Amino acid sequence: MRKTTPPAAASKRSREAVAPNPTSLAAAPVHTKLSIRPVCRGDLDAVIEMDAMVTGIHKRDYWNSLYSRYADAVATGHHFLVATAGTEVIGFVIGEVRDWEFGSPPCGWVFAIDVRPDARLLGAATQLLQAICQGFKRAGVNKVRTLLSHENTLILSFFRSQGMMIGPFIPLEMDLDH
Ligand SMILES: CC(C)(COP(=O)(O)OP(=O)(O)OC[C@H]1O[C@@H](n2cnc3c(N)ncnc32)[C@H](O)[C@@H]1OP(=O)(O)O)[C@@H](O)C(=O)NCCC(=O)NCCS
Repeated sequence: MRKTTPPAAASKRSREAVAPNPTSLAAAPVHTKLSIRPVCRGDLDAVIEMDAMVTGIHKRDYWNSLYSRYADAVATGHHFLVATAGTEVIGFVIGEVRDWEFGSPPCGWVFAIDVRPDARLLGAATQLLQAICQGFKRAGVNKVRTLLSHENTLILSFFRSQGMMIGPFIPLEMDLDH
């Protein structure tokens, strides 16, 4: 996957997350290296909280169901990864390989990517996307796709920064209550 930032420049940037220290606002921030790993059951509360920050809705049943379908399911092309700074979960990404849908050869789909507001602009989402794309490549696909809302310019800026561009498909929809 192409990234518009030259790798040399990107590597110069600080890629350390500042883990929040709720015990003392005066204490020096704790700088901790970011890690990416598969989700664990114990991460779900943090994931639900992060999603609720973006969407305004706590969807516990939805996330439990996603967890049971996506955790430990890499062999089936399902990926649910978290970014951690120390012991804190500060971001997540979910996606999977889908075969021959919409007439397309198998490709990777990213369904959701979120980073906690106090850990943004430190490269966490970049690392999450790179990690899930590695998983897609290991599954034998060479294309990644996503869908996003026209209004969400933040997520658009992020995906564009990673080299993603408009694809050959157009989304269509209609109301079913007429
Ligand atoms: C979009 C999001 C995932 C980015 O996470 P992040 O960890 O801050 O992203 P990164 O630090 O890896 O940033 C990579 C690049 O994205 C772009 N980017 C990220 N945040 C940006 C912002 N606020 N404004 C403009 N560009 C931005 C930049 O080009 C950045 O590269 P640079 O820092 O070298 O300039 C995060 O802001 C987020 O969780 N937003 C809400 C998520 C959401 O709406 N999800 C919808 C459901 S999928």
